[in-house]
Amino acid sequence: MQTLILGIESSCDETAAAVVEDGRHIRSSIVASQLDTHAQYGGVVPELASREHLRAIVPVVRQALEQAGVSLAELGAIAVTSGPGLVGSLLVGVTYAKALCFARQIPLIAVNHVEGHIHSVLLEQHAIRFPALALVVSGGHTHLFEVREIGEYRLLGKTRDDAAGEAYDKVSKLLGFGYPGGPVIDKLASFGNPRAVKFTLAKMKGNTLDFSFSGLKTAVLRWTEQHDIKAEIEARRKLRNPSLEELLAATPQTTLDLLASFQYTVIEELMKRAHLSADQIGAESVIIAGGVAGNEGLRKQALQSGGLHFYFPTRGLSTDNAAMIGAAAFPKFQKRDFAGFDLKAQASLVLA
Ligand code: KG4
Ligand code: ZN
Repeated sequence: MQTLILGIESSCDETAAAVVEDGRHIRSSIVASQLDTHAQYGGVVPELASREHLRAIVPVVRQALEQAGVSLAELGAIAVTSGPGLVGSLLVGVTYAKALCFARQIPLIAVNHVEGHIHSVLLEQHAIRFPALALVVSGGHTHLFEVREIGEYRLLGKTRDDAAGEAYDKVSKLLGFGYPGGPVIDKLASFGNPRAVKFTLAKMKGNTLDFSFSGLKTAVLRWTEQHDIKAEIEARRKLRNPSLEELLAATPQTTLDLLASFQYTVIEELMKRAHLSADQIGAESVIIAGGVAGNEGLRKQALQSGGLHFYFPTRGLSTDNAAMIGAAAFPKFQKRDFAGFDLKAQASLVLA
């Protein structure tokens, strides 16, 4: 008999619910984005995020069940992201999931958001060989894990300061391109020369599989100070939901070159450490997941680099969603690894 799991995700600025069958088939996936709420502040405002989750959670869950044609009585379990993330945001999903499970006597499963991202790839890619390497790159994480088998992780390296997506968002804000920065920089970078600006990154002492992106962000800031581009930045800040043409018209070639060089450097750093760590653990399969996994430049680079098989999420599964939570919960369901009603939202939950 098939197992239907309702996944609920509310760790940051997306309220999401999905119904996943047997950890593989997405029956429905609803994501209510709060982008419009946060865009004007240039980043996620935690208090506003909690309020928006409260507004969205009931209709989003209802829609996911309706779209899947599934009633609560048919669910094998309800899975919820219990961390890491913004505590006020996580609490909305965790409390709602607990209430539903309690009222309807449905088993509750706690899922780590980072493990969820890894499952956004495992969900669809069944040729992945273990041990695999997983690189989770998002607004909150830049982590390398050895995946010995599903559910068994070992942390190999992580960022010591900014996450890769955070670097995109900060550089974007600095240059007047708004929030989130990843998608817009990704699009514009293809119009610039990636070798125009040479960024030298500090050598890592200690664990060489760790990342650091704050120096790169500071280097971009220095570049803007040396090139006096205040007027150009201000003009871009005034644009409201600009099209690609409008953005290109508001961005001189030197700035496009800067964006291309920034993106080139981030991708270099990610790919270099992915190769190093895959070698170290003898992995042939590399899973790249999280918001930054949607990056076109990174995908192209991965396809061209020999030796390893890279696996990316498809169909809008790279950014936060609940299908990945429903999928990550399935192996736990099989092991009867259920959570109690004392489950807490844990802002700094670690995977390994
Ligand atoms: O996984 P996600 O939705 O949320 C977190 O768990 O953080 O990732 C959002 C992050 C943002 O920092 C956003 O700028 C970045 O992913 N992002 C990208 C791209 N699309 C989203 N970064 C680079 N290139 C992209 N195409
Ligand atoms: Zn995420």
